[in-house]
Amino acid sequence: MSAAAGERAERLRREIEAHNRAYYELDAPAISDAAYDALFRELQAIEAEYPELLTPGSPTRRVGGRPLAQFAAVAHDVPMLSIQTETDTGARGAEDFDARVRRELELPDGAPPVEFSAELKFDGLAVSLRYEHGVFMRGATRGDGLTGEDVTQNLRTVHDIPLHLKGDAPPLLEVRGEAYMRRDDLARYNEKAKARGEKPLVNPRNGAAGSIRQLDPAIAKSRPLRFFAYGIGAIEGWDAPATHRELLDALAAFGFPVCEHRVVVRGWQALADFHDCMGAQRARIPFDFDGVVYKVNSLALQNRLGFRSREPRWAVAHKYPAEEARTVVTAIEVQVGRTGALTPVAKLRPVFVGGVTVTNATLHNEDETRRKDVRVGDTVIVRRAGDVIPEVVSVVLDERPMSPSPNDPFARTPLHPPFELPATCPQCGSRVVREEGETIVRCSGGLVCPAQVKGALLHFAGRRTMDIEGLGDRLIEQLVAGGQVKTPADLYALTAPALAAMERMGEKSAENLVAAIEKSKAASLARFIFALGIRNVGESTAKDLARYFGKFETLQKADAAALESIPDVGPVVAASICDFFAEAYNREVIGRLIAAGVHWAESEGQADAPPGVFAGKVFVLTGTLPTLRRDDAKTLIEGAGGKVSASVSRKTDYVVAGEEAGSKLDKAGELGVAILDEAGLLQLLQGDCQ
Ligand code: IVH
Repeated sequence: MSAAAGERAERLRREIEAHNRAYYELDAPAISDAAYDALFRELQAIEAEYPELLTPGSPTRRVGGRPLAQFAAVAHDVPMLSIQTETDTGARGAEDFDARVRRELELPDGAPPVEFSAELKFDGLAVSLRYEHGVFMRGATRGDGLTGEDVTQNLRTVHDIPLHLKGDAPPLLEVRGEAYMRRDDLARYNEKAKARGEKPLVNPRNGAAGSIRQLDPAIAKSRPLRFFAYGIGAIEGWDAPATHRELLDALAAFGFPVCEHRVVVRGWQALADFHDCMGAQRARIPFDFDGVVYKVNSLALQNRLGFRSREPRWAVAHKYPAEEARTVVTAIEVQVGRTGALTPVAKLRPVFVGGVTVTNATLHNEDETRRKDVRVGDTVIVRRAGDVIPEVVSVVLDERPMSPSPNDPFARTPLHPPFELPATCPQCGSRVVREEGETIVRCSGGLVCPAQVKGALLHFAGRRTMDIEGLGDRLIEQLVAGGQVKTPADLYALTAPALAAMERMGEKSAENLVAAIEKSKAASLARFIFALGIRNVGESTAKDLARYFGKFETLQKADAAALESIPDVGPVVAASICDFFAEAYNREVIGRLIAAGVHWAESEGQADAPPGVFAGKVFVLTGTLPTLRRDDAKTLIEGAGGKVSASVSRKTDYVVAGEEAGSKLDKAGELGVAILDEAGLLQLLQGDCQ
């Protein structure tokens, strides 16, 4: 072997690893694909010529070897345990775990709270990675906990998994963690797979588990797999740190990805807060987690607690309520919204899902209902994630009610026909129309349609619009049915005696309602604009319009060009606004509202500082954000009316945490302050949540 070849191979390896980091971790490739390929091929050629130079940690090994006939068995020196799951998905789950730990440790009442480390329960596949003298030697699945499968070839293709450890690596270190897929990576992968005519992956969890268990490493390599470390197995020649938190920090220092959403807290209340806080952010975090995991932070206490059968006493999984459940569609109704949109809604046999009992689920629109082919009598999978409206995900076709076909006694046909939207509005009988290129079918009845009138009134009186307390669904229904109210302006003519004469309405409530209606006359311009219910004008657009035009009259006179000069207002929104004000009927209602005394403080206009989506909110920034510099983040927050403070306290509304966030993040967890990552901050800035 030539010494020059050995040196060249070593240089190439270092160079290729650096380019891999730039590409996969920093998302900032430093050279072209062709130049990278040239380096890679040169290294492959040297290793082919001098096989003794081929190291287990060489980046060429990420390409994977030949397909296997079957996986070899791997005996785990330290068993891979499972975790007990708390049955209660509420705060009680955290309380029960804490109580068990205190009892097992024989802590007297009044002893200080136990310190816990809390992290996410990733929804992927558990794997164990074995490093000898800092080099990745073998990767295995959990199997039955004692014996797993050797999936080294596949794990080598996962770029998150270091082939070489950074720093001073011990003779033996087994790292345990989760192989998983991000939802956005999966969506991108599936798009390409479909374009190639391949079957898409069902979900991130199956995607991860299925990819790791492929005999052909080329398949695993084509899948966007990632890894988070959360513990260790066998070790030799390494003084493990004293706490779980420091253990994870040490793994991060060796080069393993460790999830940033983790805190160290004392006592069960803070655990329950972390559970809630992360639960609220689930949709914003780019990968799935089905709960959180609590671990006693001190490794000495973990040893004292020990195990019961295959589960440690020092850890527990505290899950979120299942988000999907099976039930039966008893009917399909068509609802008419305030803009006249017809929405098919499945009436369900009541089912407990996502923490509540669900009896209705949206089918979105006619196309979606047809695509999923949801019919009356079908058994369906219903999903309720977070506060999102429950929806029907799919039909369990095997359980569709069937009847014998009239022509052929052996054939069976579905008992119910495919769903079709009616040709007329179920509320007012007007014709329904579907504009070209639109998926939404609308009632053409306008304010003849009681559903649209009721919807418009409910929107006008809502908490985020004119905020008329006590004017709810049922009362509006009565007022519209009785003919007292046809437009929002009619609300201001209601009197206490007239209201008191209505069913289920006492004198006191009638007076309160009149007072609430009176109070609503002093609105803000943004609320008033939003309250009008202009199509395509949501709360944040209404705020932009108020801020930009300052006066209602100026907005009313604005043409499409003036409207489109506002960021985020495009031709569609501008046209909706122009159409709205061009309608004589709308101008009349506005005139009557103003005549009734509705007014607004013009101070929300340009003259005064913009209140912004973050008005009154206090933020703390910690750690390094993936793309924003700290100054940029501060400018964005302040631009939206928020304040950036240096330390976390009970007054903090949000902690924005990046890589290597430290004690501020822990403090946020302790105080139950909402924690955001950069993506969460940007989403919040757009007014998407809260
Ligand atoms: S610790 C001794 N931490 O949950 C405790 N497990 O039953 C060993 N899991 O499928 C596991 N996220 O892959 C631990 N942050 C986390 C986890 C986690 C997900 C999975 C694990 C296994 C199951 C354990």
